[in-house]
Amino acid sequence: MKIALFGYGKMGKEIEKIALERKNEIGLIVDMHNADSFSIDELKKCDAAIEFTTPDTAIANIYKCFNAGVPVVVGTTGWLKNWDEVAKVCKEKNQTLFWASNFSVGVNLFFQLNEQLARLMNPHKEYNVTMEEIHHVHKKDAPSGTGITLAEGVLKNMPGKTKWVNNITSKPEELELVSKRIDEVPGTHSVRYSSEVDYIEITHLAHSRKGFALGAVLAAEFVKGKKGIYGMKDLLNI
Ligand SMILES: NC(=O)c1ccc[n+]([C@@H]2O[C@H](COP(=O)([O-])OP(=O)(O)OC[C@H]3O[C@@H](n4cnc5c(N)ncnc54)[C@H](O)[C@@H]3O)[C@@H](O)[C@H]2O)c1
Repeated sequence: MKIALFGYGKMGKEIEKIALERKNEIGLIVDMHNADSFSIDELKKCDAAIEFTTPDTAIANIYKCFNAGVPVVVGTTGWLKNWDEVAKVCKEKNQTLFWASNFSVGVNLFFQLNEQLARLMNPHKEYNVTMEEIHHVHKKDAPSGTGITLAEGVLKNMPGKTKWVNNITSKPEELELVSKRIDEVPGTHSVRYSSEVDYIEITHLAHSRKGFALGAVLAAEFVKGKKGIYGMKDLLNI
């Protein structure tokens, strides 16, 4: 199939490699230099688009894909406060949007494990839960989209915690989600339960960006010819 790439940075280049390995074609590459001048006709010839740009540019790119009638797979994080509006436009225009805070298969299994662990820990009030995410120093948003998904997974299963905060906190109703930016770390997320007598930690550590890129290409192959809003649960059937 023919794929349009929005964003040709660290992720865009990795996605291109995997897409070509899987015998797909790259029909169009859009980055900051041609964002306002690329050919919409070239976009219309693509079976799907993959969008990994910046929090400030993602929504305009998504709308360009909707207007061109091309299903769009979005990995950009940091724009989700506008999710409801984008989802509404997608439905009104009968278009296709696939979004994931994290495209790696391992992380999506980790999301399930995180929710199960939170459910198990919930009755045991002697444990306090905290979270940490570590990424490379170039990352523009904090906390990470994956960190937010994990935090929401904990909040859903632990009614004693009412919201996450992106800093150290000692308020019992707040879930601490600390962000660290270190060197070139691709992405590490930890959820920790600590009591006076012991400590439980689950961690997902990405060795490279390859897992995210493969998931995004699989998602593009999945949305070809489909209408509606999808996520990793649909792709992985979990
Ligand atoms: N969901 C996931 O699994 C996942 C994984 C890794 C990264 N991300 C997210 O993906 C995004 C991109 O990450 P990256 O590491 O590739 O960033 P990057 O800074 O390396 O690349 C960003 C690219 O966006 C391009 N760009 C800027 N404005 C544009 C516009 N208006 N139209 C088209 N392209 C434009 C830039 O030219 C650049 O090529 C970030 O939001 C990051 O958090 C998500």
